[in-house]
Formats: sequence, C-alpha cells, structure tokens
Amino acid sequence: MQDKLLSIAIDGPVSAGKSTLSDAVANHLGILHLDTGAMYRAVGLCALRKGIPPEDEQRVVDMCLNGHARVDVDYVNQSQRTLLNGQDVSEDIRTEEVGFAASTVSRYPDVRKYLVERQREIAGKTSILMDGRDIGTVVLPNAPVKIFLTASPQARAKRRYQQLLRQGREADFDKVLVDLIARDKQDAGRKADPLRQAEDAVLLDTSDMDFESSMRAILDVVEARYGKQQ
Ligand code: DC
Repeated sequence: MQDKLLSIAIDGPVSAGKSTLSDAVANHLGILHLDTGAMYRAVGLCALRKGIPPEDEQRVVDMCLNGHARVDVDYVNQSQRTLLNGQDVSEDIRTEEVGFAASTVSRYPDVRKYLVERQREIAGKTSILMDGRDIGTVVLPNAPVKIFLTASPQARAKRRYQQLLRQGREADFDKVLVDLIARDKQDAGRKADPLRQAEDAVLLDTSDMDFESSMRAILDVVEARYGKQQ
C-alpha cells in the first residue's frame, strides 16, 4: 500500500493494448484499474437489448437519464466486473457489435456526462489507474501521470485479430483493420470530448514493442513521477 494516492490516466485508440496493459500495471502497483470503455459498452449493450438503435440520441439519453441503464463496477480479486442494472455483463460487452454501439453512444454529451460522473465517483479517494479516451483530458485532468498509448493501425489490427483467434472466434484480418479504422475515425472525430492526446501526456507507441517492454515503459513513466513503488 502506498501512503500517497496514485492517479494514472491512460488513453489511446482501440486495440492499443490499454486494457491488458492497464490491468497488469495496476496489479503490479496494487491499485484499482477502471476500464471506462466497459462502461460505454454497457450503455451500448443496454440500448441493443432494449431494441433502441444506438444512433437514436434522444432515446439513448432518455434511457440513461431515466435510470434504465444503471452502470456499476465491482471488483473481484482486484479484477473489474461491469454491471448493467445489477447484472454482470463483463463478458457480454466484448463483442464487435457492442464495441460499435459503445462508440456510437459515446458521441452523446449527456451519455458522457452521466458516465464521467460515475467514473469520478468510483475514483473517489482511492489510488486508481483509469483507461479510456478522455481520461487525461476530461475525467482526471489533474492526474500526475498521463500516458497516450498507441500503435499503428496494422499493429493494432494484428493484435485484435490474434486475440479473436485465441478466443476461438471467426476473424478476417482485413475486416478487423477496416472496422478499427472506422472506430478510430468515429472516436477521434466526434464533437464531445474526442480521443486526443492531453498536452501533458507521454506518448508511447508500442507498434514494435512486446507486452513486457510496453509494461516496463509505462512503469518507467509512473516511477519517474511517483518513485519506485513497493
Ligand atoms: O476501450 P473500448 O474499445 O472498450 O471502448 C469502447 C468505446 O467507448 C470506444 O469506441 C469509445 C468509447 N469510449 C469513450 O468514448 N470514452 C472512454 N473514456 C472510453 C471509451
């Protein structure tokens, strides 16, 4: 346990390895990891389940503001579980369809406001590593450590493709690449809090780095700010 609270913001595009690396780094440091993308995915899933088209801003916003898409997180052995209206949807949110729905509903300022409030509540008074698209710019603008994690579209598509194969799912590399570029465009091109690197964030391009060296690079940035953690 640290005496001082740690606050670490990691942002970056789809499949940059944010979730896996964030999990490993947070585990190493003994602090919580909040995957904020999972929360947008839960809202996207909720819309799909209710038959609300993710493109229908008014209905998606009403769904959130009327309490029909309650998003919570729980931690089991330090690992995040994402709850939608009290039900654990941690696995159900990991499909491509839900990823796109999440990207679409994340364009709406009222949805963002709703989830950012939840994210700040969860961060509360605990050491936390948050990953997403707007953590360093909006959610935790005062975080002492900000990292913008990226890699080339080809490197990210390759990782995503291999991950799908490992999960026993069908995958076509060219489709994975096209989908990834489309999602990048939607996330970086939206008006509300688009994906962008905070001015004071350290840029880490992991295109040619393996998992261990990426993790070491993140820990180097953390240790430069907070000193070596026990
Ligand atoms: O990280 P992810 O792929 O699971 O995120 C799903 C979508 O949610 C992503 O396409 C954009 C959106 N998102 C966001 O707008 N802001 C965040 N802080 C996290 C995710």
